Amino acid sequence: MYQLMLILHVLGATVWTGGHLVLAITILPQALRRRDAELILSFESRYERVGIPALVIQVVTGIWLAFRMLPDPAAWFGFETDVASHIGVKLLLLLLTAAFAVDARMRIIPHLRAETLPSLAWHIIPVTIFSVLFVVVGVGLGTGGIL
Ligand code: HEM
Repeated sequence: MYQLMLILHVLGATVWTGGHLVLAITILPQALRRRDAELILSFESRYERVGIPALVIQVVTGIWLAFRMLPDPAAWFGFETDVASHIGVKLLLLLLTAAFAVDARMRIIPHLRAETLPSLAWHIIPVTIFSVLFVVVGVGLGTGGIL
């Protein structure tokens, strides 16, 4: 069961973090240069079909893995031990990712045009940085700590 959860967690990470790195490094600069919002919208409309399920898998398997390592959810927010701090940071990254993603989805993407592309960029870049930090902290959890 542990191996299955970890495999699903790593697969989800490849989709979530990999997809955001492709968006931020290849599609966003081109869309900004060409002032072409359609480039982002066509990527988003295809990516979100795997991206959103991948995020759900990360949350479910992440909480299962966290519970296995520290079966006291109240301690996850205490930052008292190394494991608790890593789990706390993961949950913080999740909160930040949700806040930026919901704001982009509700406020920016419905009216996306060339003039508002920079404000979308200021959502894509932080969410991509958070997605890489999820991987760094996750590997830290499995290798004795990185914080
Ligand atoms: C998009 C979000 C996430 C990504 C990209 C991500 C990525 C990763 C990666 C790459 C690992 C290392 C796996 C390995 O060592 O083989 C990992 C481990 C871990 N992650 Fe996540 N993670 C995410 C969300 C979460 C969440 C929300 C939690 C819940 C608190 C979480 C809890 C854990 C735990 C506990 C481990 C250590 C598993 C172990 O070594 O036993 N992750 N994560």
